[in-house]
Amino acid sequence: MTTNNASVNGTMVELIKVSKSYPPDVVALDNISLSINTGELFFMIGKSGAGKTTLLKMISYMEPPNTGLIEVAGHDLRRLRGNKLAKLRQRIGVAYQDFKLLLDRTVAENIAISMEVSYKQPSQIQKRVKNLLEQLQLSDKYNTITGELSRGEQQRITLARAVANSPTLLLVDEPTGNLDAETTGRVMQLLTKANNSGATVVIATHDESIFRNSKHRIMELDRGRMVSMKEATVS
Ligand SMILES: Nc1ncnc2c1ncn2[C@@H]1O[C@H](COP(=O)(O)OP(=O)(O)OP(=O)(O)O)[C@@H](O)[C@H]1O
Ligand SMILES: [Mg+2]
Repeated sequence: MTTNNASVNGTMVELIKVSKSYPPDVVALDNISLSINTGELFFMIGKSGAGKTTLLKMISYMEPPNTGLIEVAGHDLRRLRGNKLAKLRQRIGVAYQDFKLLLDRTVAENIAISMEVSYKQPSQIQKRVKNLLEQLQLSDKYNTITGELSRGEQQRITLARAVANSPTLLLVDEPTGNLDAETTGRVMQLLTKANNSGATVVIATHDESIFRNSKHRIMELDRGRMVSMKEATVS
């Protein structure tokens, strides 16, 4: 029988004493312990170089930590291999800070990737892609070659690709860096919607406008250390 520990203990991401350094002597993360609840929207903030992207890479297991334990949805990531790791990854949507889009493919092809990997019906994929483009005010870009888009447009496509397959865990790195205030609002609406539908959402950002008045938890990193945690306010 398979059990989903996340739904048993209410924790989606657990980090215990996680450290990561890069040669020769950069300490990117220093002894981070953190629990992110299932269904939570969680902000990670901190200056450039603080370790935000590194922490997201640890959670998605793009890179292993040097020391410490990481559990996602109740799975110890060190123990997952092959098919089980692939299956967990399919439930995680990542919007990378450097996008990682296929620039020679169309916008629709980029957004569809995660749904295709999990064998969704073409008609369902097309409907979802159109709907996401509409929400992000990019409906006219469906067939556009992605490399022809502006940075702000590519940033939104990156987000659409991450949310398309309705992931259980959504990791978003600087989602609003290149956007104006109105477009930033739309991006936040999309993330809030995903969160209201049950996704656990982790947002790494510099953009004060998106967390300043937030009721959600905000963790601040500085030189790889957790320097503060603002608790959620109950509304
Ligand atoms: N692959 C790497 N090799 C060497 N050093 C790295 C690597 N990735 C990150 N670092 C270093 O680790 C530290 C943390 O970097 P990270 O990218 O996590 O910061 P960040 O908080 O995301 O910054 P930003 O706000 O600029 O995106 C920095 O000092 C960075 O130079
Ligand atoms: Mg970063």
